[in-house]
Amino acid sequence: IWTNVPQGPPDPILGISEAFKRDTNPRKVNLGVGAYRDDDGKPWILPSVKKAKEILINANLDHEYLPTEGLNTFRQAAALLAYGNCPEVAEGRIAALQALSGTGALRIGCAFISRFYPHNKIIYVPKPTWGNHKNIARDAGLEVREYSYYCPTKKGLDFERLLSEIDEAPRNSIILLHACAHNPTGQDPSHEQWAQIHEVITRKQHLAFFDTAYQGFASGSTDEDAYGLRYFVKEKSPVLLAQSFAKNFGLYGERIGLFTAVTDSSAETDRVVSQLKILGRAMYSNPPLYGARIVSTVLNTPELYRQWQQDLVTMSGRIKAMRSALVEKLKEKGSPHDWSHITNQIGMFAFTGLNAEQSQTLMTRNHVYLTLDGRISIAGLNTKNVEYVADAIETVTRN
Ligand code: LMR
Repeated sequence: IWTNVPQGPPDPILGISEAFKRDTNPRKVNLGVGAYRDDDGKPWILPSVKKAKEILINANLDHEYLPTEGLNTFRQAAALLAYGNCPEVAEGRIAALQALSGTGALRIGCAFISRFYPHNKIIYVPKPTWGNHKNIARDAGLEVREYSYYCPTKKGLDFERLLSEIDEAPRNSIILLHACAHNPTGQDPSHEQWAQIHEVITRKQHLAFFDTAYQGFASGSTDEDAYGLRYFVKEKSPVLLAQSFAKNFGLYGERIGLFTAVTDSSAETDRVVSQLKILGRAMYSNPPLYGARIVSTVLNTPELYRQWQQDLVTMSGRIKAMRSALVEKLKEKGSPHDWSHITNQIGMFAFTGLNAEQSQTLMTRNHVYLTLDGRISIAGLNTKNVEYVADAIETVTRN
């Protein structure tokens, strides 16, 4: 019956982890998937998360179903974290559905657009963007188009083209924006550029759909990392938002996220949530408990919240140190290239500029794993392997 099912290709990001696992070389390094590692290359349980888990164990909670909209204390605290103290939060104008991490939030959001957005079904994503964005939008029935984002030659934003292409998009298009720590390029708009992006989106009556997977991870400040989103909301522009807590809480496998839409009134919020629940119920019924309890406990307990803010600085600080170490080592090895973009970029990734062939060589010859677009997860570097990686990169980029 399934004889005509063709073999599907491996995922461009998760397939790299699979290849890494199969590699038996002891020197192997995984710079593929964006998952934080400590200086020993081990997953890190955040001290704030550890304390929250202890509180939860002692509370001896049951395992009943959550309502489809999710855990209330989590939904409220997560929305406050993203939007800050603003009238929209105070007036109940944030419609929220707990989601299966960032991917689930994007999927629910795209399904909601597909079912209810009155204008069109066109979503523009940056070029390049996170590998899964297009799959998610397409599977939800949207037409995916791209707007220019990054200029490989100047290794920075292709800002003029970004503005003009968003301007040229049909009125009322959905524009997907990375709230901070753009994945894969590590290049974010400045405050001034956010204002310009906002101006064109508003003038064309587009709808901004923010994706925030790295709040607190880019600059180390959760407020600074929400600047673009909050600017839109302050200017009274409608927004959608997909939040992930995988990276900033280290809760990758717990699948904890939130989808929100800013509405015009609390009555509209109720109607939107009722429809989001219908979408969620048909897809997975109700969301998982554990991650929501952990995030809610951390965000709602002042002592744990303070600890979490420190944990974020620990992670972003180590990543910054590894960026500098890599550039330093490349210089020491005598690389003639300018690698300063690696220290200028922010977030978990560096967009090295290596091409697909060089990236493939790094994997097959040096056992250093990265995505074929030349993106490396800086979190996979540590004081023990950075020299080895620098050496490998220097060799494949030698003319
Ligand atoms: C990544 O970009 O590596 C992460 O967001 C993990 C994923 O799911 O792709």
